[in-house]
Amino acid sequence: MLRQEFILPQGQIYLDGNSLGPVTLGAQRRVGQVLNREWGEGLIRSWNEAGWMDAPLALGNRLAPLIGAHDDEVLVADTLTFLLAKIIGGALELRSTRHVVITDDVNFHSDLYIVAGMAKLAGREIVVKAIDRTTLSEHLDDDVALVMLTHVDFRTGEMLDMAGITAAVHAVGALMLWDFAHSTGAVPLDVTSADVDFAAGCGYKYLNGGPGAPAFIYVAPRWQGVLRNPLPGWLGHARPFAFEPTYESAPGMRAYLTSSPSVIALGALDGALEVFERTTITELREKSLALTDLFIDLVEEALPGVFEVVTPREHDRRGSQVALRHHRGYGIVQALIERGVVGDFRAPDICRFGFAPLYLRYVDVYDAVQILVDVMMSSAHLDEKYDMRLAVT
Ligand SMILES: Cc1ncc(COP(=O)(O)O)c(C=O)c1O
Repeated sequence: MLRQEFILPQGQIYLDGNSLGPVTLGAQRRVGQVLNREWGEGLIRSWNEAGWMDAPLALGNRLAPLIGAHDDEVLVADTLTFLLAKIIGGALELRSTRHVVITDDVNFHSDLYIVAGMAKLAGREIVVKAIDRTTLSEHLDDDVALVMLTHVDFRTGEMLDMAGITAAVHAVGALMLWDFAHSTGAVPLDVTSADVDFAAGCGYKYLNGGPGAPAFIYVAPRWQGVLRNPLPGWLGHARPFAFEPTYESAPGMRAYLTSSPSVIALGALDGALEVFERTTITELREKSLALTDLFIDLVEEALPGVFEVVTPREHDRRGSQVALRHHRGYGIVQALIERGVVGDFRAPDICRFGFAPLYLRYVDVYDAVQILVDVMMSSAHLDEKYDMRLAVT
């Protein structure tokens, strides 16, 4: 039973693994090894002897099957916003005669900020269009350089048609960048069959790599050696220890490195990924859909009309979370947390519950809904102490 591989606090139902996954025994073990043996005993020799220089590539290979990629197509480094910056900057050079980048007006705010920031640095006029994604086809033409979308909407949990959208984007000669923050480790992904150009995702949600864990970048083989890293640094150089004053990119995925890998954090993610090798993404997906189906059904049965279920019912349009809309959503989530059911709140009115299939049980869903019913029936969520919001919601 894979739940035993997680350290889950007693008396809590953790429905926030879509935001920060829990500690795994694998991560604990591996970080212990890094601290005690590799860093503790090996000290600086471990850059060579413990494979630290190759860790971003080795970990990329370990993660690759989760997104349908192969060896040498994924690199683990930086955090997600930085990796998006690298891809956006490089992609704008690849489509140097085009002037438009399209993204989604409800995309994660960091994605919107970084795309606007990189557009300003492009050296030519770039218009960033943040559109209603249902109208994408109307905006696709031969002036579009790049389309950047998040595969599973962070608020609603809606999952987009990766293959279909990528094909439509390619049909006008544009490039496609997918943000897999809310997908990896929870839903099946196949960048190869969907012919994706670029993707990136974070390590701290369903992958359980720890707070601020390194992120990952996928670059299709056809773009490796072609997509330039706009943030060059010594670790992405062909010969970092030659200390040459002029930059020459390393071949392959190493080109997308900039600075020293965060070795302890890579260790945590490495250990956390072990558990995925004891199951399949198909099994995880079945469990995830069963958990989210059950949650939606129970909420609708017990609290008819109280919430708007924002997450799509159709399996092929649903990620691994359920979003319930309520105008007192913040108070509801806080009252639940006080009673041991941990979800989160996304402004303006979304109560968000993540269902990480590796460690959640059906009984957790029943218990969580019962506690939700208690909160609503007792009006606990209306307590004025919830009028003030915490910094992290
Ligand atoms: C969809 C999405 N994109 C980007 C980010 C930003 O990630 P990072 O803090 O690693 O830059 C997040 C963080 O939660 C996210 O959910």
